[in-house]
Amino acid sequence: MPQTLAAIGLTTGRAPFVEEARTRGELYISQPYDLYSQENHETWRKLYARIRPRWERYANDHFLRGIEALELPADRVPRLADINRRLEPLTGFQAKPVSGYVPGFLFFDCLRRREFPTTITIRPADRMDYLPEPDIFHDTAGHVPMHTEKAFADVLVRFGDCAVTAAEMTAGVQDYGERVRRLTSLMRAMSRFFWFTVEFGLMRGRGPNGICAYGSGLLSSYGELEHAIESVETQRYPLQLEWVINQVAEIDHYQPILFVVDSFDHLFSLVDQFESWMRKGKLFNVAPGLPDIAEGDLRSFLDAADAL
Ligand SMILES: [Fe+2]
Repeated sequence: MPQTLAAIGLTTGRAPFVEEARTRGELYISQPYDLYSQENHETWRKLYARIRPRWERYANDHFLRGIEALELPADRVPRLADINRRLEPLTGFQAKPVSGYVPGFLFFDCLRRREFPTTITIRPADRMDYLPEPDIFHDTAGHVPMHTEKAFADVLVRFGDCAVTAAEMTAGVQDYGERVRRLTSLMRAMSRFFWFTVEFGLMRGRGPNGICAYGSGLLSSYGELEHAIESVETQRYPLQLEWVINQVAEIDHYQPILFVVDSFDHLFSLVDQFESWMRKGKLFNVAPGLPDIAEGDLRSFLDAADAL
């Protein structure tokens, strides 16, 4: 029997449709829904069934309402068109299918336009617990439900504004080495701030000890979601901007330190403060260390500054 495209699936690292698009330099693609294999849908079903009780215990209320509002399916990979039909009227956000990693400035610029770059592949069935790169479960079951909440959606747009400010703040620096050094510091600060909030943020509210999760890296990880809120070894502190932007961000194990905001209005005010610190030139020398700034990310910001 000839192997059909449908049997090949859209599995992370093994999806010719996506890899060919990348080879052609196509970043924004479609979601060829018929290409998902039965195994892909089964992986989604297992991930969803396993984590659902933990969402009810540890997720913030906005996330749980978002899951309902989007009618995220329990038994199969979601269609992004279905998600967008329900999401856009709420906050104007859309999940935008991409072929892989989106360079830093382009990613934040998408957020400004209320588009969320969304991976369409799903992790292999034998790697349910950890995948270094995002997959459709992380993006649509971790991030996108939060985008139904207006205050949180506005925070993402403000992060997008900050990327433009970072480009503006370095565009006029004549010495190329100094320009790169300053931009690297601003990008590192922004990356850490995004990491400890949008990806791994905690918020006061329902849940054990009055703390719940809103960060997508937590909400899409069965193991880390519980660990983040229950483990006595996790340090949890009220978010202080000056700390977060200088805090090394480690990616290959459960986060040993997490930061708690009061509300999304609180988070929004912190992004405002972050931008104002950038404009004052206060963030050109944040602490060195992780994350490393990738060449492609730096290039995307330099190109944006050149285009101003
Ligand atoms: Fe993420």
